[in-house]
Amino acid sequence: MIGEALAALHGSGLAQFARGSSWFYPAMASIHLLGAATLFGALAVLDLRLMGFAPALPRAALEPVAVRLALGGACACAVSGAPMFAAGAIGLAANPLFQLKFAALAAAALNALAHHAHGAAPARHGAISLACWTIVLVAGVVSAYV
Ligand code: HEM
Repeated sequence: MIGEALAALHGSGLAQFARGSSWFYPAMASIHLLGAATLFGALAVLDLRLMGFAPALPRAALEPVAVRLALGGACACAVSGAPMFAAGAIGLAANPLFQLKFAALAAAALNALAHHAHGAAPARHGAISLACWTIVLVAGVVSAYV
């Protein structure tokens, strides 16, 4: 069932275009990296602040800006990552580092929702967030080489 869906995605017009075009995949990869840099940069500042660094920075002003930047970066990653994934769907889905990236992505999203819902223990939420996003970035890069 999942294997058939992956094979269908791999053979789709979008995936064939992404594999055949000389410019499309590099363009998507560039957007992906810019999105990841925006997301990670914004959240690193917020997470470190939640962990107690730079206490002079007002959280109430920092948090909405950082979250908006992070959501923008996440949208850029999702839109560009979809055709990149389609281009190599079968191999990527079986790649343990790519699986680790998505597990860390899910953990980061759940942690952010929990922080938004009750706001308790901000230092712990900040540390978990920083750890999860570091794993997402490192696994995202290293998955291309294994
Ligand atoms: C939202 C947070 C995300 C972040 C921070 C992120 C980060 C990254 C990073 C840093 C890379 C390595 C880029 C490079 O070395 O040039 C990468 C690669 C990649 N990402 Fe993402 N990504 C995210 C979401 C997604 C999503 C939602 C998808 C798919 C729908 C996706 C699909 C891919 C693919 C296919 C690659 C190439 C992997 C390979 O060639 O082995 N990413 N990602």
